[in-house]
Amino acid sequence: MEKAVIDMKDVHKSYGIGEHQVNVLKGVSITVEQGEFVAILGPSGSGKTTLMNLIGLIDTIDSGYYFIDGLNIQDQSEKSYATIRNEKIGFIFQKFNLISKYTALYNVALPLLLRGESYKDARLKAAKTLERVGLEERMHHRPNQLSGGQQQRVAIARALVGDCPLILADEPTGALDQKTGSEVLAFFQELNAEGKTIVMITHDVKIAEKAKRVILVEDGLICEENRQLSNVLLK
Ligand SMILES: Nc1ncnc2c1ncn2[C@@H]1O[C@H](COP(=O)(O)OP(=O)(O)OP(=O)(O)O)[C@@H](O)[C@H]1O
Ligand SMILES: [Mg+2]
Repeated sequence: MEKAVIDMKDVHKSYGIGEHQVNVLKGVSITVEQGEFVAILGPSGSGKTTLMNLIGLIDTIDSGYYFIDGLNIQDQSEKSYATIRNEKIGFIFQKFNLISKYTALYNVALPLLLRGESYKDARLKAAKTLERVGLEERMHHRPNQLSGGQQQRVAIARALVGDCPLILADEPTGALDQKTGSEVLAFFQELNAEGKTIVMITHDVKIAEKAKRVILVEDGLICEENRQLSNVLLK
């Protein structure tokens, strides 16, 4: 068996207390192996962002267990989450989340600088990664000098530069026009063909179709898991 990048079992998550408590995730189990390209698909309010926050160590699970790349999260302090995130996960967000005052190059170099790499090495790797996403001409531009598609490519370079075992994307094409969105998805497929593990959250069936496997979330539960989306949708 391939090594699991995500191994989550019977995870519960609720917000609020007492009578105001909302049970958002009600026992979610997910395994993602190295080299997979998985879409997590579900309607609005089903718990996708909550799940993404747990997978991405932005929030903590209430119960169940979660191993990321073999590391048991329960054994880690919340203080160490930032370090684990930096080493294990490349994030891609709907709204790019680039730092506006920094150039593309510096935005991409940042995860490496946070790891303690030298400025020279980080800069070199960032430049190479920006070249990889076709932005060598735009390295010294700041985000507001770039189009949406270009900004998302910077964000993809930032997610790739640290060579993390997992790429986690939350509605990555949500702020892009159809053509630019398709280009981003095609690039994900290319990265996956090279062996990158990708988990993409989406509410859009057409986008989920681009992944190799779809996990369907409804009302805080995994209600279907399938290699082929058609099997999920044609029931
Ligand atoms: N901090 C919070 N406090 C209370 N309830 C919350 C909180 N965060 C999320 N919820 C509730 O949990 C449910 C799931 O929310 P979540 O954001 O995970 O959904 P989603 O699937 O990402 O939806 P969308 O597609 O609209 O982004 C919703 O009913 C929401 O109101
Ligand atoms: Mg959401």
